Amino acid sequence: MNNEEEFKLVKYKNHRQSKPQFKIKTKREVIETESVDEIINRINTTTQHFKESPFYQTLLSALNKALATLNLNGVAEIICYGLGNFSEHLSSKYQLAALLCIKLVYSSKVLIYDPLFTKHEIECLEKLDLHVLKINDEGKRCINNYSTLVFMPHCNSWSELECQTTDALFQLTVPCIYMLKPYVREIHLKNNFHYPNAFSGTSLHIFTQEKLNTVVEHFWKSKPKLVNFNKDSDFITANESDKNAG
Ligand SMILES: C[S@@+](CC[C@H](N)C(=O)[O-])C[C@H]1O[C@@H](n2cnc3c(N)ncnc32)[C@H](O)[C@@H]1O
Repeated sequence: MNNEEEFKLVKYKNHRQSKPQFKIKTKREVIETESVDEIINRINTTTQHFKESPFYQTLLSALNKALATLNLNGVAEIICYGLGNFSEHLSSKYQLAALLCIKLVYSSKVLIYDPLFTKHEIECLEKLDLHVLKINDEGKRCINNYSTLVFMPHCNSWSELECQTTDALFQLTVPCIYMLKPYVREIHLKNNFHYPNAFSGTSLHIFTQEKLNTVVEHFWKSKPKLVNFNKDSDFITANESDKNAG
């Protein structure tokens, strides 16, 4: 079985709900028609609309519930992967609005990366006081801060992922998630946003001390076999990023 056959096996029941329209894996030579200030103005308007939405309240109460469960009083740091081209796509724009609102509420430091960000988008993010990472770390990042929120919009709730495939395929295609699944507590977010694509399949996933205490010691030493993502996947490897840059 070649890689391509192997990874076509994870099928999504409702295509649009789970997989947005991203299939461009290389950074395009975009002619950026909007200036950085124009993009920021639009983001500010979108953020204002987002703040007025019932979904914002849903998100805040879920976050506060998660923090209370974890005995934490804030989100010190946010790491955001996979936001997408927010100067172009409405979903990404609303997701950025959500990120900015969370940052404001908790005065969090934000690190952000998407290999497809354009030059103007990077400038916008920096002007909005977000720290844009320069290296594609493929999400393999050591987190030392207990109150870190990893914000991966539209990357799907783990329980939904599990429902969409068989146990064997779940283990084969997303081995790290498969291993961590027994120790996670998922807080489902009701998607009551007026533009449902932006937050469909979004959940909060937390790791409580109680659950972590049940992890056997050799768990942390075991290294699951990582998958080779095929060309149809949305994931961009560090190698692919280097090729695009060079
Ligand atoms: C399924 S799209 C989601 C985009 C957007 N958040 C949405 O909801 O439409 C996945 C995003 O992950 C980004 N991505 C792919 N590889 C990545 C990597 N190694 N690190 C961070 N982001 C990555 C892609 O560029 C793309 O923007």
